[in-house]
Amino acid sequence: MADIAQQAVDLIAANTVVGLGTGRAATAFIHALGERVRSGLQIRGIPTSDASATLARHLGIPLVTFDDVEAIDVCVDGADEVDPAGDLIKGYGGALLREKIVAAFSRKLVILVGSEKIVPALGSRGILPVEVIPFALTPARRQIAALGFDPVLRAKDGKPYVTDNGNYILDCKTGPLTDAAATDLALHAIPGVAGTGLFIKRAHTVMVQEGENVEVRRGSA
Ligand code: A5P
Repeated sequence: MADIAQQAVDLIAANTVVGLGTGRAATAFIHALGERVRSGLQIRGIPTSDASATLARHLGIPLVTFDDVEAIDVCVDGADEVDPAGDLIKGYGGALLREKIVAAFSRKLVILVGSEKIVPALGSRGILPVEVIPFALTPARRQIAALGFDPVLRAKDGKPYVTDNGNYILDCKTGPLTDAAATDLALHAIPGVAGTGLFIKRAHTVMVQEGENVEVRRGSA
């Protein structure tokens, strides 16, 4: 993702606040941004995960929190699925909730993906991550199952995977969704659901890398 990350870093103006996504594409971007910072570019970053915060600090990117800034100018992140309208599924990497919060407070969300992430309908790769608070795991799981999605508790090293927010993730087997916005609303209506991986009308720009070429598409926001 080096080419696409370099193109994305060209979009970053001096003296701006930049949301730092999570995952491989975002990591490539953070490395490219770190190089610019070392060359004198003045920006401040807001990370979407502990992992991205650690990387940014290591690269010398100054970090701020929501308490320090009024708004985020641009957030650069990856995605797991992009549909023809520019809506997204995110969260295979587990950072969906903070990613959605940072995206929501960003003036612009720029998404970096390889062409393999382009799908005809959200859910086509088979998984929709949903973050739930541990107290609500059992009832939320039952209600998600009642919606017709098979929720599987994400595990790591034989134990439930725990997000940076201390929550669990249910990887819901959806299949292609006919109405992703309605699915998002239905999932959010379940008490204990902290967030879903559906990013509807969030992305402003989607940069798609295929081989050496980078196609810049409009997102759905
Ligand atoms: C993290 O929770 C995810 O939303 C990632 O942004 C997304 O999974 C894309 O990751 P990659 O760039 O590693 O594919």
